Amino acid sequence: MKLLVTGVAGFIGSNFVYHLLETDPGARLVGLDKLTYAGNYENLEALPAEARERFRFVKGDINDRALVERLFSEHAFDGVVNFAAESHVDRAIEDSQIFLETNVLGTQNLLDAARRHGAGTGVRFLQISTDEVYGELGPSGMFTEETPLAPRNPYSASKAAADHLALAFHHTYGMPVLITRCSNNYGPYQFPEKLIPLMIRNALRHEPLPVYGDGKHVRDWLYVRDHCRAVEMVLRSGTPGRVYNVGGNNERENLFVVRKLLSVLRERTGDPEIGEGLIRHIEDRPGHDRRYAIDATRIRTELGWEPETPFEVGIERTIDWYLAHRDWTERVVSGEYLRFYEQNYSGR
Ligand code: NAD
Ligand code: TYD
Repeated sequence: MKLLVTGVAGFIGSNFVYHLLETDPGARLVGLDKLTYAGNYENLEALPAEARERFRFVKGDINDRALVERLFSEHAFDGVVNFAAESHVDRAIEDSQIFLETNVLGTQNLLDAARRHGAGTGVRFLQISTDEVYGELGPSGMFTEETPLAPRNPYSASKAAADHLALAFHHTYGMPVLITRCSNNYGPYQFPEKLIPLMIRNALRHEPLPVYGDGKHVRDWLYVRDHCRAVEMVLRSGTPGRVYNVGGNNERENLFVVRKLLSVLRERTGDPEIGEGLIRHIEDRPGHDRRYAIDATRIRTELGWEPETPFEVGIERTIDWYLAHRDWTERVVSGEYLRFYEQNYSGR
């Protein structure tokens, strides 16, 4: 299998590269990434030498028509997995322009190239989407693949637009397009602007833990490597034109997650300053979706996928990774990230 994988230097993309090169000795990958603030080539440096021989990294933009065209001409790809995106809701609230450029137009550019180089002949195109395209849930119910799309912030609106476009390429041109919509991922290599790594970093530095609003918003947490297995299964065996929800069966309130992080961190470090006294409730995120929950019946019954990592195990593994990689965290927190942090959190 020869794949073009975009966004490989980000959180889920890098985990997917490790997953696929470890589990499929025949896999060869070309990884395309613009190396934005969220993309770090360092995330791929732990690849063993043997896997490195089957992986080629290209620094570039999914919007670059000439570059994408050249990659498709040079390589006979069997498939494309598009992880590349602007992915942080709070940044989209600050300025959504780049979200539309990357998430919508970038996806369109990749779809166009895939169409020119193999529509109908099997270049499978997997668009990585999110449960956020369905909007928010009340206290009960779950998102199925039939739930109408109702995105409520500029990030999820851009992802929903890309989903519509990807499915339109399937219906219009017969391209074997597939979509996965997953819940909140957690695990190694996640940029410390997202809830779990941000709280770990702040707690270790004895800095306030900024919980938005009452902290009772619910997310379904999925261990990243379980998600990577789902992506591989859908790519290989999913039915073209179909959407597959991917969830962790693990709904938790944000405050529960933060308290769990604090208790494991205190236990691991023995540091008495790490405690619930660090929690600060701050002004809520505008348009903050209250609850997401995934019904993953389709991927379970059609493809036999289930999440394997219980939250208690995944969260301890994640914390241990961040404790062992404190230098990584500090290196990826660039000047640009510090500017965003100051702007997003000051005065709230
Ligand atoms: P991330 O922000 O950690 O990584 C995104 C990667 O894309 C980075 O390496 C970045 O450099 C790259 N990139 C951005 N713009 C690019 C461009 N124009 N051209 C090429 N590369 C570009 O994101 P992530 O958390 O790994 O998310 C990956 C995908 O999964 C995204 O499509 C996101 O919408 C989706 N998703 C993520 C989650 C989650 O919990 N993290 C949940 C649901 C869906
Ligand atoms: P996040 O990791 O940004 O993912 P998403 O918004 O895509 O779900 O946030 C997860 C939850 O945590 C969400 O309800 C917002 C909340 N949150 C905070 O309370 N404080 C924070 O500093 C951040 C980044 C998120």
